[in-house]
Amino acid sequence: MPQQVQGVVAPGRNEPVRVETIVIPDPGPGEAVVKIQACGVCHTDLHYKQGGINDEFPFLLGHEAAGVVESVGDGVTDVAPGDFVILNWRAVCGQCRACLRGRPWYCFATHNARQKMTLPDGTELSPALGIGAFAEKTLVAAGQCTKVDPAVAPEVAGLLGCGVMAGIGAAINTGNVGRGDTVAVIGCGGVGDAAVVGSRLAGAARIIAVDIDDRKLAKATEMGATHTVNSRTTDPVEAIRELTGGFGADVVIEAVGRPETYEQAFYARDLAGTVVLVGVPTPDMKLELPLLDVFGRGGALKASWYGDCLPSRDFPMLIDLHQQGRIDLGAFVTETIGLGDVEKAFARMHEGDVLRSVVVL
Ligand code: APR
Ligand code: ZN
Ligand code: ZN
Repeated sequence: MPQQVQGVVAPGRNEPVRVETIVIPDPGPGEAVVKIQACGVCHTDLHYKQGGINDEFPFLLGHEAAGVVESVGDGVTDVAPGDFVILNWRAVCGQCRACLRGRPWYCFATHNARQKMTLPDGTELSPALGIGAFAEKTLVAAGQCTKVDPAVAPEVAGLLGCGVMAGIGAAINTGNVGRGDTVAVIGCGGVGDAAVVGSRLAGAARIIAVDIDDRKLAKATEMGATHTVNSRTTDPVEAIRELTGGFGADVVIEAVGRPETYEQAFYARDLAGTVVLVGVPTPDMKLELPLLDVFGRGGALKASWYGDCLPSRDFPMLIDLHQQGRIDLGAFVTETIGLGDVEKAFARMHEGDVLRSVVVL
């Protein structure tokens, strides 16, 4: 029987979100219904609400979530009712060239649930990032669920569903930060701070945090940065070179998504170093570089998609490290809120003191 639950819906471009009754179908083949326990508020949810991702309103928002599998459809063997899971954006095929090369974020045949969740009048909802987890329950493809240790707090586990995994993965997977490395992180919001945590975990000797906001730099220091540069007042490329005997950082992680910070990242790395691009630019942005510099500066320029993570490998590992006290994922949770507070959480995002507001159910 389809069930009616409460969920946060964005009805139209820039209209305030509201808690509405939504209808969840029984899981079909390959699908699962998950009872949501926690879901973080991410900038991407705000972008959906503003119409910046696509126009497929109404959206069911929320995509950084953990919960318990309630029921599964035919053919589902990897998860079962009662499992505690973290949700990810899409199930991958496991068989295409990208999947076989261990790069599932480039999978040619990703999918979400095939059935639609709806409003009671039958209007189909578009779930944010194929999840839609600001809701008591949601319908996903079973392959979007990764089982982890249920002893961890749901508001901590859900963080790995998006920004925190993207940042940690940018350091440990894409950047392949190694012991003794110098890492510079440009942009210290939630993603950049997670890159700081990942760099420390990987054994970086120096972690240089760069931001235009001193409060963000103070927070990055709490997270493990060893040096800070306010790039509003100091040229970050010069400062990073000075801190590295003129060479530049072994790994530079860009976590803003703007032309000027892409350019800073390009010039702040050691000639043999790696630039990791995790900040997402908008379609109109361009970067102009002298070709001689592109040619003359070797090293690598790498984009990081969802931290190049393998959920079944990385989610349980990071939860384990958190449970052991070796990383503190709880430090990313600024406040826990209810389903009715998402609009307020969007407003707070720009106040500068919030890493993550997390809806707890
Ligand atoms: N130079 C340095 N830092 C900057 C600059 C700049 N020119 N402009 C903004 N910042 C800082 C902000 O002060 C803030 O601390 O970048 C940080 C961005 O943080 P958030 O807005 O909290 O964004 P976050 O969630 O961390 O995501 C960052 O990564 O995955 C992507 O889509 C995501 O593009 C976004 C980026
Ligand atoms: Zn997100
Ligand atoms: Zn695939």
